[in-house]
Order: sequence, then C-alpha cells, then structure tokens
Amino acid sequence: MKERLQALQAEALTKVEEAATLSDLQDIRVAYLGKKGPITEVLRGMGKLSKEERPVIGELANKVRETIANELDAKKEKLEAAGLEKRLEKETLDVTLPGRPVQVGGPHLLTSIVEEIEDLFIGMGFEIKEGPEVETDYYNFEALNLPKGHPARDMQDSFYITEELLMRTHTSPVQARTMGEYKGNKPVKMICPGKVYRRDTDDATHSHQFTQVEGLYVDKNVRMSDLKGVLNRFAKQLFGEDREIRLRPSFFPFTEPSVEMDISCKVCNGEGCSVCKGTGWIEILGGGMVHPRVLEMAGYDPKVYNGFAFGMGPERIAMLKYGVDDIRHFYTNDVRFLQQYHKA
Ligand code: PHE
Repeated sequence: MKERLQALQAEALTKVEEAATLSDLQDIRVAYLGKKGPITEVLRGMGKLSKEERPVIGELANKVRETIANELDAKKEKLEAAGLEKRLEKETLDVTLPGRPVQVGGPHLLTSIVEEIEDLFIGMGFEIKEGPEVETDYYNFEALNLPKGHPARDMQDSFYITEELLMRTHTSPVQARTMGEYKGNKPVKMICPGKVYRRDTDDATHSHQFTQVEGLYVDKNVRMSDLKGVLNRFAKQLFGEDREIRLRPSFFPFTEPSVEMDISCKVCNGEGCSVCKGTGWIEILGGGMVHPRVLEMAGYDPKVYNGFAFGMGPERIAMLKYGVDDIRHFYTNDVRFLQQYHKA
C-alpha cells in the first residue's frame, strides 16, 4: 500500500507539472483528490490493515494528499500570474499615440458682447440689475412718462398678455424699478441687460425678440457732459480708440433732452461709404437726461436729483463690430456661424 501511495503521488505531481491550463489542474484535483479518486480508495481499504500498519498508512495517505494539494495550489498561482501577464501584454496602451481632439463649445456671440459691455460698465462703477420680461403696463410705460393713449407708445408695438401685462418692449422699466427700490434717497448707477419683445416682422435688421442694455445714473449734479464722457469711453473701448462719437438731438418720452449717439464709421473712417450710407456716422444708441416726471414718479425729488439714461441693442453692436449682416444669425444658431466667434 505504501508503494501504491508513493506511486500515486509521483504520478499526480508529474501531471501537475505538465498541466498547461487551470482546467487541467481542476481535472487533476478531481481525479486524485476527489471522492472517487485512488487515495480515497486506499483510505477506504484501511480496515483490512493490521493495527500497526493502520496509523502509518493513514499518516502517509494524508501526507500524499497534502503534497498533491499544495502542488496544485502552487501551480494554480503560477498559471494565474502568467495569464495576467499575457493579458496585460495584449491590452497595452500606447500613451504616446496622438489623442482624438474633443470639440469644445464656447459662449454665444451675443453672450460675449453682453459680457463685454457689462465688464466695461462695471469698470466705471455701474452695478448690474435685472427685471422681469413679463412687465406691467405701469413700469413699461406709465412710470416712464408714457401714460395710456400717449402717441409715443406707437413707437414700440407691444405684445400684450392682458390689459395691464405685456412682454416688456425695452429694458427701461428696470430704471423705474431700481429707483423705486432705492426709495428716492440714494444715488443709482446701474445697467440692465436683458431680452425685450416687439411686434415687428422679422427681417435682416428686425426681430420680434432682441436684447437691450439699459444704463441709468441718478445723483446730485449729474450733467449732460457726464453722459457724453461715459458714452465716449464706452464707444472707444468697444470699437477702438480711434473712433469719434457725436450726439444728435432726438426724442424719448422718458428723457429730456434726448439724444442719439453715432460713432464714426470704421469702414471709411468718416469719409462716407455704403455701410454708413454716405454719412460717415453710424447710429449706436439712444439716451438723454432723465425726465423730471420719471424721477418724481419713482420718488426722487427732481429739484435735488437728476440723472442720465441710455439704451442700446447688443445685436446691433455685435453686427457693427463683427460685420454680421443679418440679425437672424443670432437666433438660428448655425454652429458654423457661432464657431467663428469662439475665442480660443
Ligand atoms: N428705451 C429706449 C428704446 O428702447 C432706449 C433708451 C433708453 C433711450 C434710455 C433713452 C434712454 O428705444
């Protein structure tokens, strides 16, 4: 029996040695150490042995079992390590290969221009204010010196929701709201960017929805020359230091006197060309000194306080600055158009 056990051990170890895969090992384990394997069989036949032989053979059988099991485990570890090695080799990453470029988005041209305008006025001490796009008739018109039935309401064809509610036609109601918020006893220096709505037929220069930036400065002793100084800085910073500005008399119900501001045409340098329609000047924005009635309605005493206000359309400014020929490009969002203005 001793010889039989030793022969089994030798046989099993050779097979373990030769095993090439994990499943080979599993087969060997079942064949030699399984319930129906030869070692179990030997142990089962122990009853026939003499008293003296029994512990000796028992011990040997256990030893043989252990040796085979240990060898199986060791070989299993070896095969697994080799397998991992192989897999790593197969799945190697070449980190020196050039990558695939990722498409990165950027801000919309309109967003960029509004942010540029905001930065510019923040630099001059203005704060940014916002107001609702669905506005009351009171703030959109009445508080701006446009009572019901006033002919100048026709200048801004409106989308009414009810008799008293409409889509704001300009950002000027935010003037009235901010002055109201400040209760008539402290200076106001704010700009308000936002969307506005008018009943216009869309074409290359008109849109039923567009953007405005409104500015307002109320304090004691504000003069028209302050307005001119601020607008001059704005125009030069945005369009170039070599631009000139000029103010022309105009009319808005909420400012008196009212002006329109032109900048000298960049294309012809003021000589006159098709872009400026031969005048050498391009209209940029409207403004003026806040009407005393508007101050009064917002709770400011027009004998103590006065101010200036102005309003502009960032679409128009972007069109002039970047030579965009159709306002609809801002809203149709053709990626080929937008990508041209993404800064690297
Ligand atoms: N709200 C005016 C408009 O939409 C622009 C403006 C604002 C003019 C402030 C003067 C002062 O046409």
